[in-house]
Amino acid sequence: MTGASAGIGAAYAECLAARGFDLVLAARRTDRLEALAETLRNKFGVAVRAATADLADADQLEAFAAEIGADDTVTLLVNNAGTSTLAPVADTSVAAAQAMTDLNIRALVRLTMAVLPGMKDRDRGAIVNIGSVLGFRSLPVSTIYSATKAYVMLFTRGLIDELAGTNVSVQLVAPAATATDLWDISGVPLSALDPAIVMTVEAMVDAALAGLDAGETITMPSVEEADRLIADFDASTLALLGASQKSAPASRYLNVTA
Ligand SMILES: NC(=O)c1ccc[n+]([C@@H]2O[C@H](COP(=O)([O-])OP(=O)(O)OC[C@H]3O[C@@H](n4cnc5c(N)ncnc54)[C@H](OP(=O)(O)O)[C@@H]3O)[C@@H](O)[C@H]2O)c1
Repeated sequence: MTGASAGIGAAYAECLAARGFDLVLAARRTDRLEALAETLRNKFGVAVRAATADLADADQLEAFAAEIGADDTVTLLVNNAGTSTLAPVADTSVAAAQAMTDLNIRALVRLTMAVLPGMKDRDRGAIVNIGSVLGFRSLPVSTIYSATKAYVMLFTRGLIDELAGTNVSVQLVAPAATATDLWDISGVPLSALDPAIVMTVEAMVDAALAGLDAGETITMPSVEEADRLIADFDASTLALLGASQKSAPASRYLNVTA
């Protein structure tokens, strides 16, 4: 479980502990991880270990990946750790852009690749990747964040297809606005949002786990008609891909005089 020291990850950790999962909680803030681990051990009687790791740091990511990759008791990976800076690209620091790509993309892919071979060998396991509704469409302030979440979306959907017919399940969870510290971290305070579009972490995680239990591969907790809207999205992206499968340029580019 990554990003377990706050927000959505801490809520996942509590729900998973309540279901009897032994947990490894990863994030940077050791004090918060230790406090949560202690609470969950006492409340649910499960084994919980705090694993301090800056997953945006290549060496620390590699060490954590090696550890979970070598652990054949891992049955579930929740790739939740993420960060966000919401600003136009020209107003975003290189460091902030790098932090988003390193954590939201590189860490998620590396940790997935760490546990996947073992899960495939055992033909058992589940990987939950936390994307975002902003992975389907970027807003003027979310270009980089949206691009990282679009990567998560396409990577996770590709994996879902690759693993069809196995007992390894993969779920993309794409929340909309959820009440966590991430908003303040992003530079857009939570207080600036209309409360009518903000979900609690508890409601978000309960819905995501209900989706997992139901065998959903794409869970969009706040979307009422998700199946229909995702089918429409897939139909139009497939039509675009299909229309590209030609050896000649499109006619509008032929016989054009400069
Ligand atoms: N909140 C929303 O509205 C919303 C909507 C859609 C998707 N999401 C996604 O949901 C996920 C969880 O976000 P959240 O809203 O719960 O945010 P949050 O409250 O800010 O929590 C983020 C978690 O990630 C950890 N983290 C951040 N940087 C890290 C690093 N370099 N290495 C390891 N862990 C790191 C944080 O712990 P430390 O600081 O202790 O490292 C924290 O536990 C993210 O992937 C986010 O993109 C959130």
